Amino acid sequence: MNAKTKKKKSKPQPWRILIASGVNLDLLGMREPHLYGSQTLADMEALLQSEFGEIAELNFFQTNAEAEYLAALSQGWDGAVINPGAWTHTSLALADRLAGLKLPFVEVHLSNTAAREAIRHHSYTAPLAAGVVQGFGINSYALGLSGLLCHLSEVQS
Ligand code: DQA
Repeated sequence: MNAKTKKKKSKPQPWRILIASGVNLDLLGMREPHLYGSQTLADMEALLQSEFGEIAELNFFQTNAEAEYLAALSQGWDGAVINPGAWTHTSLALADRLAGLKLPFVEVHLSNTAAREAIRHHSYTAPLAAGVVQGFGINSYALGLSGLLCHLSEVQS
């Protein structure tokens, strides 16, 4: 192989990660701040980008439409951090989708759902997750992403 035909050593590609916030999380910052804090989704995005932006390709997404949420999960990500909001407690369809995609994901919640009303204690999606982080406001997303990256490193080695 001469210099011209020599293949360039390919740079390892950063993981493509989806950060998917579901129903009503667009209201973050003004919605029940005693439960969810006063920081916004934009604050969460800036936090994750500053902490992890150099080691992972972060793709942020929020919708109030369940079909859009399911479609977003299906775009060939290496992993996802999901906060499905109330769909956590209601959506068998979301759990079926995640099981079908075999997508490695961490479930996060701003509030500690275990300390809230009984209806929030059940999660359809948590049994499929690599792990769950809840109760730390927007830091739950950062902790969840850190856990997801550890998980991806472990399964790839
Ligand atoms: C939430 C908890 C859910 O029970 C609730 O429906 C939400 C937000 C959280 O991040 O704490 O919408 O997912």
